[in-house]
Amino acid sequence: MAFRAYPGPAAWRAGDFADGSWIDVLTPEQRGELAVAAKALPADEDRWLEMSRSDLDLPALAPLFEQVTAALERGRGFALLRGIDMSPDDVDFAYRVNWILATALGEVIAQNTNGEVIGAVTSVVDANDNGLETRGYVSNAELRFHCDGGDVASLLCVRQAPKGGYSALASMTTIHNTMIEECPEQAQTLYDGLSIYMRKEGNLAGRTMPKRPVFFSREDHLLSWANLRLMELPYEASGEPMPAHERAALDAFEEIAERPENKLSFKLQPGDMLLVHNNVCLHKRSSFTDDPDPNKKRLMLRLWYNVPGGRAEAITPMDRRKGYFTQNPYVIRHR
Ligand SMILES: [Fe+2]
Repeated sequence: MAFRAYPGPAAWRAGDFADGSWIDVLTPEQRGELAVAAKALPADEDRWLEMSRSDLDLPALAPLFEQVTAALERGRGFALLRGIDMSPDDVDFAYRVNWILATALGEVIAQNTNGEVIGAVTSVVDANDNGLETRGYVSNAELRFHCDGGDVASLLCVRQAPKGGYSALASMTTIHNTMIEECPEQAQTLYDGLSIYMRKEGNLAGRTMPKRPVFFSREDHLLSWANLRLMELPYEASGEPMPAHERAALDAFEEIAERPENKLSFKLQPGDMLLVHNNVCLHKRSSFTDDPDPNKKRLMLRLWYNVPGGRAEAITPMDRRKGYFTQNPYVIRHR
């Protein structure tokens, strides 16, 4: 096929953000407004699910939410809110803050078979490999570059690990533009698509999904989705070797993503919320060593949401973007 490069704000490089200008620090007024709204949520978390954006009155935060959505939907594809007022010891309050932010920004979807909409990303297994059985977010292992479910994945940092646990982002548009120059054959393989393995979870059996393109070409922009590990696992599950052209394509994709000029690396701080558009940016995390005190373990709250009318609409209509965790009713969390 004839390839074309896609310029624009989604085709960024790490150096574009060396000045930290991509980080939005909340003003004291915004912090206060968020804390008041979070405290006002009912004690019964089930009732939070009945709320919608119109129930919120956040005049100081509203311009910031617009700016974040513009960056995610029409710009670079990621954002970071910093300075959210919360204590590393008050996990319940972090859930409240997360819910207010999520309700203001989009339509939340479940992220596991239990129907949970806020997931605790913390190490409950000491794993050095995220294999056929283990979803990455419950381990302390490195998570290689991937995209999550939903239009936008967010991570609210409650507690950080003393060692490791760095996050990194890469622009899939930049990777695409580089691949069509340097290795068009591998780019073609990614346009043709790769299978994805969905791990066994709840009453869902592990299974390999049909091939799905990594790159989706649109009129004037590119949409993408990739998960390196889930694209390798179909072959580990079947015992068949990965075809050489698929291996070469994923290797090229990962090598370009990992180049220092393409990889924006940082360590989330308590009170940070990272938001990443899953059709624009890859994200990853380095391995980490936890604090020996179980009450001080690294803890991130993860949440996935869709943006009605957003750019993902060009691939999948809204009513089919709820993911595959739809067999159980939504719940904020299971305790
Ligand atoms: Fe992720």
